Amino acid sequence: MGGDGAQELKFNGSPVPIDAITADEGERIKTGIVELDRVLGGGIIQGSAVLVGGDPGIGKSTLLLQVLQKLAEQGRKVLYVSGEESAKQIKLRGRRLGASSDKLLVLVEIDLDGILRQISDIKPSAVVIDSIQTVYSSVLSSAPGSVGQVREATEKLILAAKKTGIPVFLVGHVTKDGSIAGPKVMEHMVDTVLYFEGDSGHAYRIIRGIKNRFGPANEIGIFEMRDSGLIEVENPSEFFLSERPEGASGSVVSPSMEGTRPILVEIQSLVSTSNLGMPRRTAIGVDHNRVSMLVAVMGKVCGLHLGNQDVFINVAGGVKVDEPAIDLGIVASMASSYLDRPIDAGTVVFGEIGLTGEVRGISQMEARIKEAARMGFNRCILPKTQGRTRPTGEGARIKLIRISNLKELLGHLF
Ligand code: TYD
Ligand code: MG
Repeated sequence: MGGDGAQELKFNGSPVPIDAITADEGERIKTGIVELDRVLGGGIIQGSAVLVGGDPGIGKSTLLLQVLQKLAEQGRKVLYVSGEESAKQIKLRGRRLGASSDKLLVLVEIDLDGILRQISDIKPSAVVIDSIQTVYSSVLSSAPGSVGQVREATEKLILAAKKTGIPVFLVGHVTKDGSIAGPKVMEHMVDTVLYFEGDSGHAYRIIRGIKNRFGPANEIGIFEMRDSGLIEVENPSEFFLSERPEGASGSVVSPSMEGTRPILVEIQSLVSTSNLGMPRRTAIGVDHNRVSMLVAVMGKVCGLHLGNQDVFINVAGGVKVDEPAIDLGIVASMASSYLDRPIDAGTVVFGEIGLTGEVRGISQMEARIKEAARMGFNRCILPKTQGRTRPTGEGARIKLIRISNLKELLGHLF
């Protein structure tokens, strides 16, 4: 499988000095959708394969049709291949998005060879395959969407991209457990994996780059789904804090690094006496095991025992925060809810917590402080161990409270 394809790539056996290889960053095509260009690492790399995954109805087709429309507006000929919807359905969606251009070609096709033939005939500037699970190769007897078919189609399309320099976007549906359906192996084959976070019940859409051979991974782009498609959110911190209940206990703000950007997120906790033998621990947006660890440390170090309490934690806005810097925020919000005492609305907290309750230094401290200051916060509780340098500019306005152990936290909070 795929042997003939590999030959087409013309791997050439002679080694080249690394400084003789040209790698021109100017090869990127900017879509003009800033939030997406950043997630891609500054635009689309020619010949790259990008997997776009997410739940059904989250906005994958919408986003990619918008991308192609943008490229068509730049005078580029682009190809949208759909095996899921009729040309008429695509036209109707396109109308909502204002997509109308003779440069944007629509092909309704599921046969892999047919798709590859069209790509090589048309030579578009970019191709979208919506979705990879509908593509069918007659070489294999299995049904479209099966592991073998998905792998075969992915492999052939990636080879076509590398050979021609045409970037290919592959839409992949996601199974209930969150993994991209069909083979996980697809993630290893493509250059970039973008994933829609959050759920389609809300208007916002978060796109995270979970893998990127051409830029920083873990970068996020934030959009809002409107009647006319996905609109970029320009000030993410403001967006995530827009519905914050000021003066409510259990709510605290923490600056989190999402890729290269600091973004303020609101952590909410609800701690209430349980009438179950095994109290509930529910964590949305933060790591469940981390929360269990923090509950234990909090009991031991601060004397706040949540052993008989149900604990629910949620990061508002549907964003997933996966860094230890959020520890202090989690503890602060749990303590606030448990004691039923609100945290001052002008305060942010961040820092990692160790098993003995020590508050540990984290990366990008200055960027976090600056973002908090920019958003009008006036007090920041942070690790003591970090360098003593004071942030300059906007960050200098904020009052810094440095703590080295969790014991000190409650005194500053309440
Ligand atoms: P879609 O892009 O079809 O999702 P996917 O391809 O990931 O399955 O998005 C479908 C949803 O988006 C659908 O519920 C309607 C909504 N939508 C809007 O709100 N505004 C729009 O302009 C468009 C095109 C879709
Ligand atoms: Mg779709």
